[in-house]
Amino acid sequence: MSNTAPRNILVTSALPYANGDIHLGHLLEYIQTDIWVRFQKSRGQRCFYVCADDAHGTAIMLRAEQEGITPEALIERVSNAHQADFAKFGVGFDNYHSTHSEENRYFSGQIYTRLRDKGHIATRDIEQMFDPVKGLFLADRFIKGTCPKCKADDQYGDNCEKCGATYTPAELIDPVSAISGATPEVKSSTHYFFKLPEFSAFLQQWINDGHVQPQIRNKLMEWFESGFNEWDISRDAPYFGFEIPDAPGKYFYVWLDAPIGYLASFKNLCEREGIDFDSFWEKDSEAEVYHFIGKDIVYFHALFWPAMLHGADMRTPTAVNCHGFLTVDGAKMSKSRGTFIKAATYAEHLNPEYLRYYFAAKLSAGVDDLDLNLDDFSARVNSDLVGKVVNIASRCAGFVKKLGGGTLSADCAEQALVERFIDAGDDIARDFEAREFGRAMRKIMELADEANTYIADKAPWALAKEEGREQEVLDICSVGINLFRQLMVYLAPVVPAMAIEAQRFLKLERLDWQSRTTVLTDHAIEKFKPLMTRIERDKIDAMIEASKEDLVEEQKLKQAPKGPLADEPIADEIGFDDFAKVDLRIARIAKAQYVEGADKLLQLTLDLGGETRNVFSGIRSAYSPEALEGRLTVMVANLAPRKMRFGMSEGMVLAAGDDEGIYLMSPDSGAKPGQRVM
Ligand code: MSP
Ligand code: ZN
Repeated sequence: MSNTAPRNILVTSALPYANGDIHLGHLLEYIQTDIWVRFQKSRGQRCFYVCADDAHGTAIMLRAEQEGITPEALIERVSNAHQADFAKFGVGFDNYHSTHSEENRYFSGQIYTRLRDKGHIATRDIEQMFDPVKGLFLADRFIKGTCPKCKADDQYGDNCEKCGATYTPAELIDPVSAISGATPEVKSSTHYFFKLPEFSAFLQQWINDGHVQPQIRNKLMEWFESGFNEWDISRDAPYFGFEIPDAPGKYFYVWLDAPIGYLASFKNLCEREGIDFDSFWEKDSEAEVYHFIGKDIVYFHALFWPAMLHGADMRTPTAVNCHGFLTVDGAKMSKSRGTFIKAATYAEHLNPEYLRYYFAAKLSAGVDDLDLNLDDFSARVNSDLVGKVVNIASRCAGFVKKLGGGTLSADCAEQALVERFIDAGDDIARDFEAREFGRAMRKIMELADEANTYIADKAPWALAKEEGREQEVLDICSVGINLFRQLMVYLAPVVPAMAIEAQRFLKLERLDWQSRTTVLTDHAIEKFKPLMTRIERDKIDAMIEASKEDLVEEQKLKQAPKGPLADEPIADEIGFDDFAKVDLRIARIAKAQYVEGADKLLQLTLDLGGETRNVFSGIRSAYSPEALEGRLTVMVANLAPRKMRFGMSEGMVLAAGDDEGIYLMSPDSGAKPGQRVM
């Protein structure tokens, strides 16, 4: 294979939403993809791995608003957090971008325009629930009410969690907006539709052409039988996204520009590194394009996306590789059981490479769910990676050091054995290529067993006690080190950090697939340091406990208004001078009003006795504007102004707060606006 031209391969993972943390379920996908990409690179292919944050949509808009920050600030913060998490787990993107980017705006516009010009876009008025307080059309999940069937209250607009009934929001009894609590109205507006049914014949052919796994093909064929609808690709303002080029006030639905984000991220990489974008995406491109996704988003990737690309005269993906969902200890990840584990929480307690190996050991090319069984997890990692693989090196390295001065024997004493390990690489490579990682891991561990058996049979530690057998011992251990090296070549895509350590120990310039064919003779190695330690159960338990605490934190953030929490420890001591820097003043609330589009905030006009200030305060849940007007309170008057989405906030009023309520400070009667408070 070394003399054939490398393949050009573009690989993507689904773009994580920019309003939540990465958890172990996500990681199943990113680790699966990363292993495959690292394998391709190890084989010398020209392979690029791109991803991005999926930054648009109502959920992100509302989340930013709730936090009192701009969506741009939110998505930047989340993107940084996501990238830090991915780095911890060795997920090595060649580029990480955002769907809220100029490249994505460009391609979204381009694809839309091409589809429109070819007549694949329709417009139609539709009626929808509208929140009159927020001035927002409401998706089904933002409407709540009483189930029309079993009369359970507080059910979402599309289905009842109590009795399982499905219905339309219009059928709910006493519907309310989950965002403002207002009674929704039915309102009509024009929507843009992608005419998917026009692509039926194309898609029928496409999904039967080997671009999806057999199970997915069967599922898609069921959908075919029930027929397709046109796909609504527009949303009304206010919406965080891209405005549709020829339709002011209308925005692309987040799922339209999300997959286009793959193109945008790749384009961004191409510009930076001088790669020819078109050679990957033009209609007759010979490059390969693979999307790794979870089974929940098949519809978007195996129907809408190929149809969009085809309609816009671009190439379609080589394959959509779908995986199942992660469960923990046999059940859906659960916040209360502590099995909804965030990437960051895991990494605080356990080595990320344990998880990479465990996922690899259990992954296949299929779409079945994968269970992270915590007992099996530690048993498997301890027995395979530590007990079998690392053990080979640790048994042999000492003798090489002592008897060979750190240099392996000049001749390989077991040429045939080492050859067999090298040859096994072809078969293992086929498994990696086919995403049969579990099968590859089994083969690698069988080799590890063989290597250990070889060493155990030869018992160099026994020979070492006999006189004049030094060379023999060195020969055996040199073979052991060679076998270990083969295993590390095969494991490198799975445990890249451990592979770097091994490479350092073996003093090798390369650890790629091809490099394994030269046997190491008369080769100096480094002093051995343990490459991986055993998983201890108490670390796992601590991670579960910490995950339960993550949940408590989240709920606090959701419920508690900004302000001192009753159970927060007293802050670090400060001197009087520091305190005196805070200029507290009596303020009269001259005016209080609701802020359109912010359900936690009130806008206050504060009178400081001559001077007025505009302040946004998160006290709406506790006070109506009427109750506040005319009232005295205390404010921080010299706080640097903060730019919020709704305007400048020039200071802060003081309030106590906890999960139960918010309590605004007020002075005793007689205090006057503008007086300093000490
Ligand atoms: N933003 C969309 C994807 C747009 S791609 C153009 C999205 N984001 S997500 O954050 O919800 O999910 C990202 C990926 O993680 C998806 O492929 C999803 O299937 C996968 N997973 C999320 N939870 C998962 C598990 N519990 N188990 C396995 N994969 C999971 O969907
Ligand atoms: Zn019901």
